[in-house]
Amino acid sequence: MAKYFVGIDVSTTASKALAMDEHGGVIAVKSHAHALSTPRPLWSEQDPEDWWTATSSALRELWTEISPDDVAAVGLTGQMHGLTSLDANGRPLRPAILWNDQRSLAQCTEITEKVGAKRLYRLIGSILLPGFTAPKILWLKQNEPETYKQIAHVLLPKDYVRFRMSGAYVADVADGSGFGVLDIAARMWSDEMVAAFDFPKTWLPELCESQDISAYVSAEGAAATGLKIGTPIVGGAGDQPAGGVGSGIVERDQVSLSIGTSGVAYAVSAGYAPEPDGRLHTFCGPIPNTWFHMGVMLSAAGGLRWMHDEFAPTMSYDELNTDVESVPRGALGLLFAPYLTGERNPHPDPLARGAFVGFTLRHGLAHMARAVMEGVAFGIRDQVELLRSQGVHPKEAVIGGGATNSKVWRQIFTDIIGLPLYTINTSEGAAFGAAILAAVGVNAFPDVPTACKAMIRRVDTTEPDPSGVADYERLYPTFKGLYPALRDSFSALAAYES
Ligand code: XUL
Repeated sequence: MAKYFVGIDVSTTASKALAMDEHGGVIAVKSHAHALSTPRPLWSEQDPEDWWTATSSALRELWTEISPDDVAAVGLTGQMHGLTSLDANGRPLRPAILWNDQRSLAQCTEITEKVGAKRLYRLIGSILLPGFTAPKILWLKQNEPETYKQIAHVLLPKDYVRFRMSGAYVADVADGSGFGVLDIAARMWSDEMVAAFDFPKTWLPELCESQDISAYVSAEGAAATGLKIGTPIVGGAGDQPAGGVGSGIVERDQVSLSIGTSGVAYAVSAGYAPEPDGRLHTFCGPIPNTWFHMGVMLSAAGGLRWMHDEFAPTMSYDELNTDVESVPRGALGLLFAPYLTGERNPHPDPLARGAFVGFTLRHGLAHMARAVMEGVAFGIRDQVELLRSQGVHPKEAVIGGGATNSKVWRQIFTDIIGLPLYTINTSEGAAFGAAILAAVGVNAFPDVPTACKAMIRRVDTTEPDPSGVADYERLYPTFKGLYPALRDSFSALAAYES
């Protein structure tokens, strides 16, 4: 009998189901989109029911290619940090508040002052950011008290899907880290942080390790998805740690750069060693007794998509790439600050914004597109520098996400980061990582590194061009100066956004 492992990815744009065989072969991928709503400035919400219907539809389509009887285990991944607030019957009380929602800055400041900044960074492995889950709970208490009163459970997006599949309220520690109330060193909820936020600890899900079996598909879950009753569901992980597994990042000094809507540099940490000023996220790893660092840019390939959709909607990306190739490095003195949706690392500022600096009459669309590509790559370089400051010393990095399809952008990343960048045999990142965790969960492999070695191969390497590296080294300090120079303007301009 064939044996398949299914990875489910509840992302911001769609829910996806991937079937992987025992050798890491991706047999089928099915995906259903869901809508995002931004009802007010700084807000970003989704209907949890949409995740469930999209996941169930994607799974049902998977059964046109494989039989659910052959599924040995399911692994979950998805967008991190989102707050799904449920009543005592497990019904969502309001739309989920997502990772890129920035409404809870005041709540972050309040709790940071209460706990003490250094103590808080040490406990939760990062500055407390509005993107995290717990500040959103406090925002509800202060702004929607009627809803707050009815809360009985809070879950992350993929864990809401787990709940609908199984009836279990469970989070894995890698995704649970993004709540902002996990004691990251101890891998358990922090009584001190929960007391600071002052909500009942019973609202929080039970915790498990990413590779543990967390629950089994229930009769209701089976009826909706077509999965067999009793199919094991492993803990899984948030999209970044699952993507780390799916890219084979399991040892010190390996680094992955994931350039999707957001941009993330990810590396395994040496034990629990958070950046002392909280300027990185240091969270529980998807392998027991490991931790990882990640630096997050909120708008990466999202910046180029914006540029394309707003200024060149009729051009193909191929045409845009060809035009960018004809523009010299540095875009004739045009630089782009890539903070279109606020920023996390190294500038935790929801009011940071995008900016082109240096326009002259010589600049046109192609220069702007090149400046966007370079500005995003410099933002990723900032993340790599933060990793280096924590003793991560990569000799190369794996690059994934939409941006890897552009040859010219890949070369820009390579030259700005100054390392060879390679791609791998799968572009399914997080969903593939979740399927690997499922396989390890039911002992198809002894551990995650062994599974990764058996399944992940490198495909293509882009080498740094020494003259490109030198040109961008000269430009990098000017890029680093943009945010400090513009910070006050960004916050003054926020008054005009609504
Ligand atoms: C990670 C993060 C994003 C989301 C969306 O901290 O917020 O990567 O998980 O994909």
